[in-house]
Amino acid sequence: VALAAALIGLEGVDSDQKADELFGIFNRIGIRETFLEALHGFDDADNVIARGLEAKQQFVDHYYRPSLAAHRRLLDEVGAGHLTEEDLPHDILTMVAAHADPDWVDDGVAVKEVMMVFSGAVRTSADAMASVVDELLRWFDAHPDDHAMGIDPNFLLGAVNETLRLHPVHVAFLRRAREDVLLSGGTRVGAGQLAVLRTPVANRDRSVFGENADLFDPRRQVPPGQYSYGLAFGSGPHMCYGIPIVLGSEGIDGSLVHTLQMLFRAGLERDPERPPDKYRAGEDARRYESWVSYPVRFRPQAKLA
Ligand code: HEM
Repeated sequence: VALAAALIGLEGVDSDQKADELFGIFNRIGIRETFLEALHGFDDADNVIARGLEAKQQFVDHYYRPSLAAHRRLLDEVGAGHLTEEDLPHDILTMVAAHADPDWVDDGVAVKEVMMVFSGAVRTSADAMASVVDELLRWFDAHPDDHAMGIDPNFLLGAVNETLRLHPVHVAFLRRAREDVLLSGGTRVGAGQLAVLRTPVANRDRSVFGENADLFDPRRQVPPGQYSYGLAFGSGPHMCYGIPIVLGSEGIDGSLVHTLQMLFRAGLERDPERPPDKYRAGEDARRYESWVSYPVRFRPQAKLA
């Protein structure tokens, strides 16, 4: 939450309590619920949308507007010669205040962009982290000789890719066709039709990932030209722009590998007293899962150097 708030330039997110409050607002905007409704049918659309709009207004009034006003004041200071451009924060609201994109003259568009960055950045990394820890701990149980690999960046990158492939945070991409389209596999999508690409199915395609595509294998090699993480970050013009943060520019210098190394160096183990908790909905290709909690403990005996 703090990272996303800093990237955007949201002010006042300076304590765990404030971070929880902001996170709560985004939960009420209902990313999970609206997504599920979209996949399973809009039975309760009126309630979901009304609650989401109310939470959005709260975000706009309490976070977006005051933060944007503060950024505008800084720009005015530059205009008056009291500050230079180098003094400005490097965040999204500085660009919004300066109308770096002409579309941001419309406050509604800018609000949507900012909300997209927040929701894109927050639950995704946290969920991926719990999943990769879970996969690795199960792998080390089954392959005790690999335990020392818990700090090897290339091995960990393989584990991250496999985890994102098998447990994609975005379980489907929804697109409405603007014109008739014939897909390369022969599927026709008519203008106005909604197409759903189910990531968990695509990411287990045996023709790409091999006969054991359902299994977690941190040493898997994928054919050239394919993403090791499948469609976990999407593809094309809207592909995730957080990849340099998550995987890093060299693949092994991103937040996930870095954090995993720190966790295993510190002696990470499952907490035997508190089992992990998962939210589950839907079945098979429509299955959606997300961690509620993944308790761990740190023991000196398990430290890796
Ligand atoms: C493990 C972590 C992450 C995963 C799995 C993930 C996944 C995705 C996916 C699948 C999309 C494409 C959505 C679509 O095509 O409809 C996306 C878009 C996006 N992601 Fe991420 N993301 C992650 C982390 C982040 C982070 C850390 C940030 C920001 C700092 C971020 C910012 C965005 C933004 C702004 C978009 C929208 C891009 C656009 O529509 O042009 N993501 N992400």
